[in-house]
Amino acid sequence: MSEPPKTESAPAAAAEAAATPAATTAEKVPEEETFTYRALVLTGYGGYDKVKLQVKKGKPALKAGEVLVRVKACGLNFADLMARQGLYDRLPSPPVTPGMECSGVVEAVGEEVTDRKVGDRVMVLNRFGLWQEVAAVPASHTFLIPEGMSFEEAAALPVNYITAYMMLFDFGNLRPNQSVLVHAAAGGVGIAATQLCKTVKDVTVFGTASASKHETISQGGVTHAIDYRTKDYVEEVRKISPKGLDIILDPLGGSDTHKAYNLLKPMGKLITYGAANMLAGQKKNLIAVAKNWYHQFSIHTLSLIQGNKSVCGFHLGYLDGETELISQVMSTVLDLYKQGKIKPRIDSTWHLEQVRVSVSSFMLRIIICLVCGLCLG
Ligand SMILES: NC(=O)c1ccc[n+]([C@@H]2O[C@H](COP(=O)([O-])OP(=O)(O)OC[C@H]3O[C@@H](n4cnc5c(N)ncnc54)[C@H](OP(=O)(O)O)[C@@H]3O)[C@@H](O)[C@H]2O)c1
Repeated sequence: MSEPPKTESAPAAAAEAAATPAATTAEKVPEEETFTYRALVLTGYGGYDKVKLQVKKGKPALKAGEVLVRVKACGLNFADLMARQGLYDRLPSPPVTPGMECSGVVEAVGEEVTDRKVGDRVMVLNRFGLWQEVAAVPASHTFLIPEGMSFEEAAALPVNYITAYMMLFDFGNLRPNQSVLVHAAAGGVGIAATQLCKTVKDVTVFGTASASKHETISQGGVTHAIDYRTKDYVEEVRKISPKGLDIILDPLGGSDTHKAYNLLKPMGKLITYGAANMLAGQKKNLIAVAKNWYHQFSIHTLSLIQGNKSVCGFHLGYLDGETELISQVMSTVLDLYKQGKIKPRIDSTWHLEQVRVSVSSFMLRIIICLVCGLCLG
């Protein structure tokens, strides 16, 4: 990220302006200083009221290798909710602008940037800082948007599809006729994982979600939808697949990771990538956090050997230095998009001013699919 912009004019510049006749000042003030843009700022950890819309002054300065993107749409991820509660360690302390994915148009290009030009439509993956109208980001964190893809789709793609793809194919080595358990199957990663499973022949997808979302996820490719709120999903899976499953994606953590490990077939793979069980309500819930830590999964390597099972951990936020790796995955994912095999699903979009409403709706689970967008148009 570039230097944070000033929220107020620098005192030296103000003093200089005061000493200069008004007409001349108007001519002389460089655009970099008069420039303003809106940003959503996390002002402290806590509830929805901690996310505030602010006006920033001063154009973000470009470092070598960076581009300035005029943001059109941003993605809202589960990690953003965790970050608001102080449960996501990849976000710097507040005040800070969250947002790890967006789409937009390149407005300026820094030195040493050779593969991007002004006017390029790009999607961006960054650790934070994208919930704002303009963002200076490394060019290597941008990807050209294919023809026919909307800005909203592009903003909902990077985190969900890169995560799902790397788990299923790089760790999971998904092959025909295998079975996969996708938790939170109506969520962003869940929808992406289901679509990607369907790119491999005869893969059976077990998907957990609230009952109201079953029709949607079944249409999206889930073979067996399970309402984890009213049923024991382990029992439900065993009824259909008594030997267990080949691959389990675990975004929940705590006791669910133990269940997942036990539900694997021999040679099965557990890929753990989140701790959604830690989140219970609008503000940090210490009981839920403690429960999750208490039930943390750990295993002796000897048991792992005897079990013929594999346990992997995935965190996209810690791969931010692996630009080549991410670019390769993105290129494969975009090829699948061009072939019509995957398509980000947008539930709804909100303008910046409405974001608190959107985040509330999100937490109340009012909306069916949670691949949401913030619209800056
Ligand atoms: N490691 C990584 O790199 C990485 C990357 C992306 C996401 N993730 C993780 O993947 C998980 C899903 O993320 P996402 O962005 O796909 O989620 P999302 O779109 O926000 O969907 C979340 C869905 O998960 C279900 N859910 C289960 N337990 C929940 C809980 N305790 N609180 C709220 N919702 C819960 C709810 O569906 P129902 O209404 O059907 O219950 C909810 O709608 C999260 O744990 C996230 O941190 C990890």
